[in-house]
Amino acid sequence: MISPVLPTYNRAPIAFERGEGSWAIATDGSRYLDLGAGIAVNALGHAHPDLVATLTGQANRIWHVSNLYQIPEQQRLADLLVENTFADTVFFTNSGTEAAELAIKMVRKYWDDLGQPERTEILTFEGAFHGRSTGAIAAAGSEKMTKGFGPLMPGFRQLPFGDLAALTAAIGPQTAAVMIEPIQGEGGIRVLPEGMLREIRALCDENGALLSLDEVQCGMGRTGKLFAHEWDGITPDIMMVAKGIGGGFPLGAVLATEKAAKAMVAGTHGSTYGGNPLACAVGARVMEIVADEDFLAEVRRKAGLFRQKLEGLVAAHPDVFEAVRGTGLMLGLKCKLPPIEMVKAGYDQHLLTVGAADDTLRLLPPLNIADEDIAEAVERLDRAAASIDG
Ligand SMILES: Cc1ncc(COP(=O)(O)O)c(C=O)c1O
Repeated sequence: MISPVLPTYNRAPIAFERGEGSWAIATDGSRYLDLGAGIAVNALGHAHPDLVATLTGQANRIWHVSNLYQIPEQQRLADLLVENTFADTVFFTNSGTEAAELAIKMVRKYWDDLGQPERTEILTFEGAFHGRSTGAIAAAGSEKMTKGFGPLMPGFRQLPFGDLAALTAAIGPQTAAVMIEPIQGEGGIRVLPEGMLREIRALCDENGALLSLDEVQCGMGRTGKLFAHEWDGITPDIMMVAKGIGGGFPLGAVLATEKAAKAMVAGTHGSTYGGNPLACAVGARVMEIVADEDFLAEVRRKAGLFRQKLEGLVAAHPDVFEAVRGTGLMLGLKCKLPPIEMVKAGYDQHLLTVGAADDTLRLLPPLNIADEDIAEAVERLDRAAASIDG
């Protein structure tokens, strides 16, 4: 008999009832060190006092207001995002998938507005993940996500990730946009080769195509810069954001330049809940904390510490691990066995990690994880790997 909750997830037999910083406390009272952070969502850990105060303060004022009216909390978060990024304008969503949907619509509308409605081809990449809507699965194109859900939305062409020659051959006057994650998350913490984002930006410029970055997982301080593309000194035309921006409250956004967004006039898009006061009040507080240069420098320092310890771990368990991957606190351990084995061995050590494609174990701790918790995490990973080694 089917379960009351649609069984689309293979869930671990653990339930959490509380959280404190980098720790999640299960219903039986046991404490788990959380290197998953709700898959890169709890950017400031669990129950961050500022976020709790902001959320409860807002809850006592007003929860929901339609986008038919001005929403000051939304305006404030938009201002913060515009001040701190390439963007001129922002649309708020409730999730990364919805951000991807709007990003796709924005590209199509841009070319339609320029009198080229047939220019709809968006170049995407193998191993990509943009969400589970019909548009987002068509964009990613993998058999795993699309099988049984046809006919797929047309307009996407997948290229090998990190293959500049393939992109150079594919891009042309028919290309509407290139849509890419600077670091693939679900795809296995795959970082684009150094400098390639600059080459992709240049190819887009030469061909007049828009560059649309999916920073849902790698953005919001995760890599030690506010957004991952900043490492390459480029800016996109459109960017999808979600996960960390809400610090655990559902929130996403599409950021865009005025040029890319100018065809999205009144009536072209909307959302009942997108940009609601609760989400935006929390999002603004997260932005104030994360966009601070001292905070980001701390993320980079912690990342250096973590990475150094992980290199030692990989060297100590050559039968389990192959290499450390990632940038900042978006870390992966490429495994020599299915990563789910490490995820399960982690549960036995009361450690939460997340699997990914390409045999990679993801480590996505809160950005403010304490140094002692980094050391503790690596000890637990060591014990988990030893239990498999043995
Ligand atoms: C890069 C990327 N894009 C989009 C999404 C979809 O976001 P959501 O699950 O919030 O809809 C995800 C989620 O994992 C993601 O990692």
